Amino acid sequence: MPLTPVLSRTWDEPRSWLLSNHLWHNGYQALDKALAMSPADVIEVVTKSGLRGRGGAGFPTGRKWSFIPQHKSGDADAKPHYLVINADESEPGTCKDIPLLLATPHLLLEGAVIAAYAIGAHHAFIYVRGEVVPVVRRLQAAVAEAYAAGYLGTNIRGSGFDLELVVHAGAGAYICGEESALLDSLEGRRGQPRLRPPFPAVAGLYACPTVVNNVETIASIPPILLNGVEWFTAMGTEASPGFTLYSLSGHITSPGQYEAPLGTTLRELLSYAGGIRAGHQLKFWTPGGSSTPLLTVQHLDVPLDYEGMVSVGSMLGTKALQIFDETTCVVRAVRRWTQFYAHESCGKCTPCREGTYWLTQLYERLETGSGTAVDIQKLLDISDTLFGKSFCALGDGAASPVVSSIRHFRAEYEAHLHRGCPFDPRESMLAVPERVGA
Ligand SMILES: Cc1cc2nc3c(=O)[nH]c(=O)nc-3n(C[C@H](O)[C@H](O)[C@H](O)COP(=O)(O)O)c2cc1C
Ligand code: SF4
Repeated sequence: MPLTPVLSRTWDEPRSWLLSNHLWHNGYQALDKALAMSPADVIEVVTKSGLRGRGGAGFPTGRKWSFIPQHKSGDADAKPHYLVINADESEPGTCKDIPLLLATPHLLLEGAVIAAYAIGAHHAFIYVRGEVVPVVRRLQAAVAEAYAAGYLGTNIRGSGFDLELVVHAGAGAYICGEESALLDSLEGRRGQPRLRPPFPAVAGLYACPTVVNNVETIASIPPILLNGVEWFTAMGTEASPGFTLYSLSGHITSPGQYEAPLGTTLRELLSYAGGIRAGHQLKFWTPGGSSTPLLTVQHLDVPLDYEGMVSVGSMLGTKALQIFDETTCVVRAVRRWTQFYAHESCGKCTPCREGTYWLTQLYERLETGSGTAVDIQKLLDISDTLFGKSFCALGDGAASPVVSSIRHFRAEYEAHLHRGCPFDPRESMLAVPERVGA
């Protein structure tokens, strides 16, 4: 399938982030179109487009918006509605929202005003990962430009619709990307997932109806409204329509963002990215960040869409394709991810708090030569207590790389028993400059 740059089409233009550049590319015209429609009609267009959330789970966006009760005039008791945009992007390998925020923040802001209008919200929040200070500054500057030009604030474009938008910088916890933990954090509490139900659409921010959407999801709204449902559904597959950002990293010739229709295969994406780095072969890869079960060379031709990935026991996730060649020890790679999950576990539930800790202990044994055959079974048993039994999906994410790597590379785990890592660490370190220069 050909590349379809829509969100990324202006990224290489000088000062692409400015309002003037966005306006030059028909910016805020989709907003004018939306404001001339009823909120219910806007939701119907998004529903018909089949857009699915790009934050990982792929939930249909129009359906999510339709869960928010539409205010009736004179409904004085109605609670306020909130729009919250999830820009926490912290999953290992995931790196699409931050470039989007840096290059085209107004695309997100335009989508935010349209989404808020559709769900009847007069306050919107962008919860952005706090460590990325340049992104926070860029976003704040874009918000100031939008206020000054009348795209935010009161009586937007003379429509009578008001929206206040706040950029909120998080303190750098992966769990605060989980939507209910994000809401707790936004309210000023420690970010830990909430029990559901009630879902955010019923009791979200400040116990009011709330939509939480990913950056890429919201940024996809203006092009859909401007170009129409048929244009959008002509790309991708029936169940997974449209274009999306695939983020390719690791042992490839040209890492980066490749925007293409859903259902594109890794083989096709690699052809755009110059293939695996010279002289090496693909060993394993993640389709959507470290939480998605890893795949191998056998899966090069599986469509990268929600259904295709499930059919081979994985998930599309955030479409963060981390590519590893034969120089990588799969046990060591999974150990590093496991350490990440143990560090980021919020500690609220026992399977994840304890399980991620014990997984790291077992990986240390395997890598340092004191592992035995029992340890491989223990990894699987602990993963079983995590998967589907943890309080939130972080636990599932921690178990996925462990189970999938043992499924595809059991022999490599066995090669670690009693002797430690068969990959010479000095060789991996020497490989770094070559990788950077590739
Ligand atoms: C541990 C964890 C971290 C997450 N981090 C993010 C994140 O950084 N950004 C994001 O959009 N969604 C993240 N999600 C998914 C959100 O909970 C939620 O599904 C998403 O923001 C909904 O937006 P969407 O419908 O537009 O995909 C995370 C989920 C979990 C379990
Ligand atoms: S699964 Fe982990 S991150 Fe999620 S609530 Fe339990 S301890 Fe916290």
